[in-house]
Amino acid sequence: MELEIYQEIKRNVRRLLELDLDHYKDEQMRRRLDSWLARSGAPDWKTYFDRVRIDERERNRFRDYLTINVSAFFRDPERWKSLAELVLPRLIKEAMGRDPLENGLRIWSAGCSIGAEPYTLAILLDELAPHRRHSILATDYDLGALSKARQGGPYTAEEIQNLSAAQRSAYLQPAGPPFYVTPNLIKKINFQEHNLFADPFPRGMDLIVCRNVVIYFTTAAKDRLYQAFHDALRPGGVLFVGATEIIPHPQTYGLRNVGISFYERI
Ligand SMILES: C[S@@+](CC[C@H](N)C(=O)[O-])C[C@H]1O[C@@H](n2cnc3c(N)ncnc32)[C@H](O)[C@@H]1O
Repeated sequence: MELEIYQEIKRNVRRLLELDLDHYKDEQMRRRLDSWLARSGAPDWKTYFDRVRIDERERNRFRDYLTINVSAFFRDPERWKSLAELVLPRLIKEAMGRDPLENGLRIWSAGCSIGAEPYTLAILLDELAPHRRHSILATDYDLGALSKARQGGPYTAEEIQNLSAAQRSAYLQPAGPPFYVTPNLIKKINFQEHNLFADPFPRGMDLIVCRNVVIYFTTAAKDRLYQAFHDALRPGGVLFVGATEIIPHPQTYGLRNVGISFYERI
């Protein structure tokens, strides 16, 4: 795709979808756009954007595609095991010393996609500290993914494959496939639409889980996000990133590495 065409697409996407593609890696995004146009059946981008302009469903489909929402319960099980064994016990203990009415953890799943990640968090907390009132905020900019998350499914056998038999019987509704989580689990999560590059960040978080989101972003965008995640954590709070997302020089952002995929606010 020629640079000029890409610039024009970016302008249209910014105007019509309120999504700034300058934050996303160039080459990968251009390849994805080429393949989307080919699948859309439109002969060129002008024709495609004429459709997007008047058709809200097409607009949502296009935005869903551009934001990429693959996910699964306990994605990278080893990392979740470390979270449960090395990180959560300390955070839970520290929260106990706070106000007795507010002794649960404040957690944010940023880029939560279809909800598998915040539901994984709710399951772990139910297993580790069941009688506390935890608050789990789960946000994404992809409305299609968020709507699935809010309904608690449907999830494929592949998406739930890392749940143990005991977890399946405790947290999934009996029928399936496709699978739905129980209404009880849904109630534990506060889902909200949120654009990481446009909307304000919450404050005072004990744990921020932002996994497999920044891999699609440019270095400048990552830089900005890591600083903003630092500001959103309380001192001693932890940022949990994806398996391949190593933060170079975390001290630049006031963070320190405390295990593979974990960074603590200094
Ligand atoms: C590959 S999924 C990761 C889902 C989950 N965190 C996991 O690790 O399984 C990436 C998610 O980032 C979201 N995302 C991409 N750009 C975003 C933005 N600017 N603001 C908020 N979410 C965004 C996408 O909509 C998508 O749901």
